[in-house]
Amino acid sequence: MANVVNSTDDYRFWRDQKLAKIAPNIEACLVEVNNPKCLSAAEKSQIITLCREQNFALFQTPNQMDYESSMIGFNQQLGLKNFDQHLYAKNQGLAHITQTEQKDQAEFIPYTDRAIGWHTDGYYNAPENQIRAFSLFCVNPAQSGGENQWIDHQLVYLLLREQDPEIAKALTHPKAMSIPQHVVDGAIRRATSTGPIFFIDETSKQLSMRYTQRKKHIEFYNSIEIKQAVDTLDQLLANNTSARFSYTMKANQGLVCNNILHKRSAFTDDNAKNPRLMLRGRYFNHVH
Ligand SMILES: [Fe+2]
Repeated sequence: MANVVNSTDDYRFWRDQKLAKIAPNIEACLVEVNNPKCLSAAEKSQIITLCREQNFALFQTPNQMDYESSMIGFNQQLGLKNFDQHLYAKNQGLAHITQTEQKDQAEFIPYTDRAIGWHTDGYYNAPENQIRAFSLFCVNPAQSGGENQWIDHQLVYLLLREQDPEIAKALTHPKAMSIPQHVVDGAIRRATSTGPIFFIDETSKQLSMRYTQRKKHIEFYNSIEIKQAVDTLDQLLANNTSARFSYTMKANQGLVCNNILHKRSAFTDDNAKNPRLMLRGRYFNHVH
């Protein structure tokens, strides 16, 4: 990808290509996979094409004997090998996203039944640990709720820039958004993370995004332009644009994506023995 942020010609070419490839509906983004551990050439090419064009693909598999190894195998075939060894990730980097009784883990919203606002994964990571892709796979849905919504972050940039180029520019400021350091008992667990909201990732050469709509422990650069740009971004995300997808994954369905903007609604489990369970992988690679 040429530098769409700095070059108007590159931007216009990229914009026209991007708009020409928009999927007509969610059904066009769902790939039937026969065996996730051994993708056919057609399945693999369909998933990669969807990820190239709109940065995500939905997929559906038959029942699996061992969901973890199936998902690890599936992701590896898409080039997702270099995983983030997250705090609560288990073997090979997969995390079990489910409600937990463990107090320390339950401080993190993903491990509760609560809603999560718009964000990209790892927005607090250092640049060298940038999350470029993640996968979510539904082993067991909630009794009700637990809907995911997502929107291609590159399309968000495009829509903002078409609305007003100055808004898109403000969000590329190198200090646009800061997440303060995370300190536990006087020890720094994670350093302050300061950076742009939209940027060209030097490794993937892709227009990428780091963002969260959380309101606590976050600071935006102290300028009117940047604060207004963030408000405009939030308004766009609140609008029901056709670029936004809403879907509640059923058992054996998954999403693989180039770290698009996403959120989750609150949910209710039918009982503690049968909780909503999603397997999540986070990767430093991207699907292309
Ligand atoms: Fe997430």
